[in-house]
Amino acid sequence: MTDASDAAKGREDLAASRDVLKRPKELPLIFPSILGADFMKMGRACEEALDEGADGLHVDVMDGHFVPNLTMGTDMVKALRSRFPQTYLDVHLMVERPSEYVEAFAEAGADCLTFHIEATVGRMNNNQHHLIQQIRKLDCDVGVAINPPTPGEVISTILDEVDMVLVMSVHPGFAGQKFISGVIPKVKVLRALMRDDQRLEMDGGINDSSAAACRAAGCDVIVAASAVFNSENQRKTIRKLRGEDVD
Ligand code: DX5
Ligand code: ZN
Repeated sequence: MTDASDAAKGREDLAASRDVLKRPKELPLIFPSILGADFMKMGRACEEALDEGADGLHVDVMDGHFVPNLTMGTDMVKALRSRFPQTYLDVHLMVERPSEYVEAFAEAGADCLTFHIEATVGRMNNNQHHLIQQIRKLDCDVGVAINPPTPGEVISTILDEVDMVLVMSVHPGFAGQKFISGVIPKVKVLRALMRDDQRLEMDGGINDSSAAACRAAGCDVIVAASAVFNSENQRKTIRKLRGEDVD
């Protein structure tokens, strides 16, 4: 067993955070992306979003190569894990060579590690089946992400093996972009191919109105940075994103 899976198994609160994807699916899970939080007040901002009803936190890791931006790394995940021991940490790896990073993120306390299919297809030493096994051995949920222009068929050979598919509804790299509605047909096709126990996550440009389209297409996990962290009333915003009745 590796140090990372030892660390995960040793964490008392593991069961509490790890079960989140397996919750009943009547309502979608809402994961605020901390990229939209005020970095000077990160702990407080996350605490507020969780208090106001978020189901977990989405951590956008960018390496400046796979996407033209640099954001955060394992130290952020470690800090979140220590402050929020029972919170689901959904780590979105927008990095080249994800296999080189998964162990460190698992050790830091990630619950789910999502790699981009575009970072693996046609790359040497980056066999997707192997990477999925690698993440499983680290005792984390496994996600695969696809960018807006990437056809859904590209993940067909690994679809059965993952816990979650993340469909990007913006070109990855920055918070605050406009929702690309052209990805909705792809989401519908993927949902029809997926098992009930697998989650379909949408990420990018999601607000009240685009969230309705995502839910209708079959998404059951919604990521939002700007909509949540710029909201005057996060409780209301989170409930609206979920599709709950809010006056
Ligand atoms: C974009 C990131 C998203 C982003 C979402 O590359 O993967 O998670 O933070 O931000 P909003 O919700 O503002 O589009
Ligand atoms: Zn993301």
